[in-house]
Parts: sequence; C-alpha cells; structure tokens
Amino acid sequence: MFLFSTDIDGTIYNGPETALRFADFWSELKNGPEAPLLVYNSGRSVDDVRQLITSKELPDPDFIIGGVGTEIFDFPSSRRMDEWGDDLQDAWSFDDVDQIVQSNADDIERQPEECQNPFKCSWYWNDKEQADLDAISRSLEAAGLQTQIVYSSARDLDILPAKANKGNAVVWLASRLGVLHNRIIVAGDSGNDSSMFSLEGGRGIVVANAEESLFAATEQLNPHHATLTCADGVIEGLRALVPTL
Ligand code: GLC
Ligand code: MG
Repeated sequence: MFLFSTDIDGTIYNGPETALRFADFWSELKNGPEAPLLVYNSGRSVDDVRQLITSKELPDPDFIIGGVGTEIFDFPSSRRMDEWGDDLQDAWSFDDVDQIVQSNADDIERQPEECQNPFKCSWYWNDKEQADLDAISRSLEAAGLQTQIVYSSARDLDILPAKANKGNAVVWLASRLGVLHNRIIVAGDSGNDSSMFSLEGGRGIVVANAEESLFAATEQLNPHHATLTCADGVIEGLRALVPTL
C-alpha cells in the first residue's frame, strides 16, 4: 500500500479538464496492484474540498486534510478525525493570535470567515519579506504562543499551531494507518506545500508551474521536478516514482 498526499489547487486541479485527467489516471492506478490511498491535502477547508469533489469530478479520496493541516477527515466514513485537534491545543489561542496580528501588521486584511477555523487564522498580506514574517513571529512568541507562519503565493498568510501543517498532518495520518514513510509520495505547487516535502524518507513531486518559494524550500530535498504543469506533471511524477517504491 502506498499513500499519495496531494495539494489540489495548481497541483491536480486548475479547472474541470485537469480534474478529469487526474481522475482517469487515478482510477487506472487504483485498479492496479499498488492499492494506493489518496489524500487531498489542501489549504481549503474540508467542507470546501468536499464541495469541490462533488462539483468538479475529482476522484473520491480516502482522506481529506484541510485548512493547511489543521483538519483531517475520513472520507468513506464521513468522519472528522477530531483526535488530531488534541495535538494542536498547546500554547495556542485563536483569539490571541487574531488580535496580535491585527495590531502588529500594517496593510493586512483578514481572510473571509469560511477560511478561518479554530486552528487556522488566515490573512491576505501582499509581497512580504522574511523579515516581515519574523516580526509577526516575534510578537506571537512574546505573548507565549507557539505558532508557525506559512506564507504562500506572496499573499496568503496562515498562522497555525506549532504542530500543525500539511506535512505533520500527513505524518500523523500515516502512522495511524501504519503506512511507512518510504511508501508516501507528496505533490504540490506552493509555499504551504513545503512541509510535506521535508517528511523523512518520503518522495515528492514539484509540478512545473510551482512557485519559486517551493523550488527554493525543497532544493536540498531532491524532489522529482516534473517537466509538465499541474495534473499532467503529477501524472508524470507518479509514473516515474511509483515503480521505484
Ligand atoms: C487556501 C485557503 C486560504 C489559505 C491558502 C494558503 O487558498 O483557502 O485560507 O491561506 O490556501 O494556505
Ligand atoms: Mg496549491
């Protein structure tokens, strides 16, 4: 059994055609000898991903990790794995984070309510440098909060509990399922995907349309750099990596 943890937007999906191409390929793989598990690992909320699956012909996954690693959902049983949240409570307070960011960052805009969850406080903050992110980080630390800052697409700022991110969530899930790290493949295109690539022993696919920050963050980790974009790049990468598992 292997586990494929993939980002959605810009990775397997940028419109219905890409969704269909990925769905066709996945059903081929699913009916083959590998018994793969499909995990969508997105910045979108679980509810948003579930809607996208029904409306856009994406294949049914086994699990959905939503909100940049803050929510985990067992898709066939329709069950939220709230146990994951127990690990995220330490030194975290959504309200304190919300208030500290609001009062310490200029020209920042809070993302809409549906993008927030108890373990994800998200903002739009355009074209920021590492030094700006570090300054926010220091204010949060000074208040005794243990957080991590995930910045993507030179716009999206997610503040999460220290233990949450896409990579840690998939590690937690894999250990619950008894899947070894060398049986995990991940794929992504942007900054919030980088934590999936640092999973020791795992393998990753960076699609050709990935943003520079993901290429930079994964430079030492030797991922498969697809020559094709989005779903085509993922298919290319899986064809290359699955036979070597
Ligand atoms: C998705 C989420 C947004 C988040 C972004 C980057 O677009 O909707 O809340 O900031 O991913 O992680
Ligand atoms: Mg993406």
